Formats: sequence, structure tokens, C-alpha cells
Amino acid sequence: MISIKSAREIEIMRKSCELAANTLAYIEPFVKPGVSTEELNTLCHEYITKNGAYPSPLNYHGFPKSICTSINEVICHGIPSKKDIVRDGDILNIDVTTYLNKFHGDTNRTFFVGQVSDEIKKLVTVTHECMMKGIEQVRPGALLGDVGEEIETHAHAHGYSVVHEYCGHGIGREFHEEPQVLHYGRKGTGLKLKEGMVFTIEPMINAGKRYCKVLKDEWTVVTRDKKVSAQFEHTILVTKSGYEILTLPTLNS
Ligand code: MF3
Ligand code: CO
Ligand code: CO
Repeated sequence: MISIKSAREIEIMRKSCELAANTLAYIEPFVKPGVSTEELNTLCHEYITKNGAYPSPLNYHGFPKSICTSINEVICHGIPSKKDIVRDGDILNIDVTTYLNKFHGDTNRTFFVGQVSDEIKKLVTVTHECMMKGIEQVRPGALLGDVGEEIETHAHAHGYSVVHEYCGHGIGREFHEEPQVLHYGRKGTGLKLKEGMVFTIEPMINAGKRYCKVLKDEWTVVTRDKKVSAQFEHTILVTKSGYEILTLPTLNS
């Protein structure tokens, strides 16, 4: 079942999404060479809980931490750890999901750590463009295949690949709701969008091949070829005339 959010529910979701986005803005200046992902986890946990919310990943299907931290060849679901200290030239994705007043808000960004090579900067730029091009397809009557094809075409135009095993998702009272939002596909196919639907678009784009594997910790997803992967995520509302990005920060970073 795909839920259509009421005006009242959308108001509450705006607050949760805004807090998730503000958490990313808050953490940005701490993303520097030498910081551990454990320290970033602690800071985000405190920020989220001080703002009256719960970090949705914590204990979600047994996930042990409050945010996901994915470095370089880690595609998604990296577990914060004291042992993972980011270095100059790395890229780090921080994925924040907040649960505030019974609604979830979900967003992520890939940060540069110090000075990053032009090659990696390009992957990150193109990945952000992929997310935005997907978002720009959203309006009542559009199909999810329109979103997927747009993302896939842009990634392939730059010689990159799209991860198939993980996708965007409906969101609201539950962290992961229907529908699944694939980041590949064909225009004119898939679910028809309606005003009041809320879902994430969160493409994972690889510099090399699209194939992935899960490490022994049962969470960390890495590229099989060990080449870098980037991701961006926003929570999107389908409005009467198009879309609204709910996960925009109101905090200056
Ligand atoms: N925030 C991720 C997403 O975008 C999901 C993380 S699940 C976790 O859907 F358990 F790893 F936290
Ligand atoms: Co998500
Ligand atoms: Co997320």
C-alpha cells in the first residue's frame, strides 16, 4: 500500500526532514582529516536527540549506530567506528534519518575530506546531478521509470554505473515504505505518481562496475571492484504542480 500523506502529516514530515538536513549542515565542519566516524556518529546522535528526535538507524534491524558512514569504495550502510579515521583525499557519505513526532526524514550527502582528486570530484558532482535530474521528473502523472531512466542515462553518459541492489523508498510513519524507487529503468513504465506521495531518491553511482557485496559485518556494502562510489539522498513530496524537496537545511553550516 502506498500512503498519501494528509496536509497535517506533511507539516510534521517537513519538521523531521528539516532536522535531518540540519544534522548534515551541523556535521559538515567536523568532516576533516583525522576525525573518526565514531566521533561523527556521537555528534550527530547528540544533535538529533537534543532536538527531540530519535536517530532512525539505531537498532533498525539490528544496525548498531545512529548514522551510516560510507568511505570511498563503501557504497552504503557503513558502520561508524573508532577504527575508521578519514584521511585527506577520501570521500565520506553521511546518511542521516530522524524520527520526530512519529515521522521519519531521510537524507544523505557525500563530503570531501580535505583535498580530493579531480577524478573523484567529478564522480561526486555527477552523482549529485543524477539525484537532481531524477527529482526534476517528479510531478503528478509522471512514472517512476521516468525518474530511473533520467538517473541511469546521466550516469552512463559519464562512464559510471548505477547500483541496482539498493533503491529509494516511500517514507513516513515507517522508515522504508512502498514504493521502491529504482535508480534505473525506462520512461513510460512503472508506478504513476500522485500528489501527497513522499519518497526518497538516493542514487548510488560507481566509478567502476555496478556490482557490490556485503562485508562480514552484514551491513557494509562495498563495490566488488573496490573503485569509489558516491551517493546523495533527498526526501521528496509530490505536490500539485511538481515536487518539493523536504530535506533542505534551515541551518547555515
Ligand atoms: N538511511 C538509509 C536509506 O537511505 C537506510 C539505512 S538502514 C540502516 O534508506 F539500518 F543501515 F541504518
Ligand atoms: Co533512504
Ligand atoms: Co538514508
